[in-house]
Amino acid sequence: MGKNEGVSISVIKRLPRYYRFLGELKENGVIRISSKDLSEKMGFTASQIRQDLNCFGGFGQQGYGYNIASLYEEIGKILGVNNNRKAILIGAGNLGKAIALHMSFEARGFNLIGIFDKNEALSGQMLRGIPIRNIDGLYNFCRDNSPTVAVLCIPSPAAQALAPQLVELGIKGFWNFSHYDIAADYPGIAVENVHLSDSLMTLSYHVSNI
Ligand code: NAI
Repeated sequence: MGKNEGVSISVIKRLPRYYRFLGELKENGVIRISSKDLSEKMGFTASQIRQDLNCFGGFGQQGYGYNIASLYEEIGKILGVNNNRKAILIGAGNLGKAIALHMSFEARGFNLIGIFDKNEALSGQMLRGIPIRNIDGLYNFCRDNSPTVAVLCIPSPAAQALAPQLVELGIKGFWNFSHYDIAADYPGIAVENVHLSDSLMTLSYHVSNI
């Protein structure tokens, strides 16, 4: 059982936001912050913040508030930003290229070590210093390098067809941009689905209800 197991998923989902926000304060040279100030800046209630952070042993001190550097570091540890997990990206089309080029994998705990596509015309092109490889080389590459995370930027049928092989090769987590529901078929695997269109439709709902 993981050491943070039992902490609710809604708390976990808020942690990246704490982390990002505390990182900005740290950059600006702020040393400490009260839960009241943190709550006003983040839009959560002070008691919500105390409850959230207490889940991990409580980093605050009565009358002092939170030391930003240590809270930032602790949350970073919980999120695993120093884990340096080996990741591969599959599908170097428009989306895959944008993700490979603009996502700071290293700062989030991942080391992007391989990029694959089935389009031979892309083979050998470099993205952030990593060559695009033909998907035919996936098996050997994974066997030799043991990545544990895959970023899927391919259409749903391709994702569905590749998933068994990827799981077999030791992939434990998917950052899934495809519309294939991996989690339904592989309940033991970690899956983070990202659907930009969901966010856009949520915006549509909110704009309609102003
Ligand atoms: P694209 O057509 O520019 O790129 C797709 C790439 O995947 C191509 O280079 C293609 O050769 C490669 N590919 C296809 N099957 C493959 C396989 N079996 N193995 C290796 N490579 C393979 O498309 P784009 O715009 O990059 O989108 C990719 C997918 O992501 C689409 O299916 C789209 O529906 C989805 N998408 C999801 C978004 C989201 O928010 N979740 C946003 C935009 C796109």
